Amino acid sequence: MLKKIGVLTSGGDAPGMNAAIRAVVRVAGKNGIHVVGILDGYKGLLEGQFIDLNKPSVSDTLDRGGTILGSARLPEFKDEKVQLAAIEQLNKAGIEALVVIGGDGSYRGALALTQHGINCIGLPGTIDNDIAATDFTIGFDTALNTAVEAVDKLRDTSSSHHRCSVVEVMGNHCGDLALWTAISCGAEIVITPETGYDEVETIERLRQLDSKRHAIVVISEKICDVESLARKISLNTGFSGRATVLGHVQRGGSPTPSDRVLASRMAEKAVDCLIHDIGGQCICIRENKIVNLPIEQALDTPKKSRKELYKLFNELV
Ligand code: ADP
Ligand code: F6P
Repeated sequence: MLKKIGVLTSGGDAPGMNAAIRAVVRVAGKNGIHVVGILDGYKGLLEGQFIDLNKPSVSDTLDRGGTILGSARLPEFKDEKVQLAAIEQLNKAGIEALVVIGGDGSYRGALALTQHGINCIGLPGTIDNDIAATDFTIGFDTALNTAVEAVDKLRDTSSSHHRCSVVEVMGNHCGDLALWTAISCGAEIVITPETGYDEVETIERLRQLDSKRHAIVVISEKICDVESLARKISLNTGFSGRATVLGHVQRGGSPTPSDRVLASRMAEKAVDCLIHDIGGQCICIRENKIVNLPIEQALDTPKKSRKELYKLFNELV
């Protein structure tokens, strides 16, 4: 019978990670399983930075952003020797299985550990919503709320000054955060890895919107220099352009109820898998059902095109 499991958070933090940690601890506890918190992701695992977690130690964490365990990136974890050293630490501490909360990179680490005999279950903790196998990741809804609140404020000031706000949102290589924000805020233009970017076309579209009081362009990070785009908008259209990079503010804040519930449901499923001696899987939500899938299958799932949502966006402009 399973006696002791570990939990760690890895990669970029996401609001709702604490809700997931708390649920792992509480659900495991109800099943007579002790939970060890591993600090700073795979880095802390390698260094044996472990703390005991119990019901009271995760009190008052449900509404807190960030991760109480800390997160880190450890590129060396791709190396099998480093993975084996981490397994030694787990064996030494009597940790039989692991819940890994993170993105696709963290999933690869979890898969490697499972292949070396430690059952791991991945929970999708990332604001990027870039794990195609799950409809939503933990943290996406909170980041979306933050981005929408910011864009609503930018709209107030841009409409007072006949301005065009170019707002850069996060998402890594996935345009979901930008697309959901653009639809929620009634943006004029959305530019994402899925739409591609054509500067001349963007300027031309804004010229056609000159009669409007303001315009909002929501753009995913890593596409272009938004300051330079804003300058070109000022030079070539009737709007004065201003750029705002929302940045890491999107990663913080108290998780929305939706993220708290999602995190708790997913964590319950993760513990259930481990109890049934299942590893190498990740937890997904699909059509509002919580399911487990092999990590390889999740990583191989092709990126969603979001064709229907882009069509909707264009119909609403
Ligand atoms: P995320 O989990 O949010 O996608 P990263 O891609 O930065 O974030 O991955 C987080 C950590 O997962 C990395 O710093 C590394 O420790 C581990 N990791 C990433 N890719 C692999 C891999 N191919 N094999 C083993 N571990 C990996
Ligand atoms: O994966 C989450 C994320 O916030 C991405 O949206 C972004 O590209 C990246 O992490 C930023 O990473 P860092 O916090 O290391 O700057």
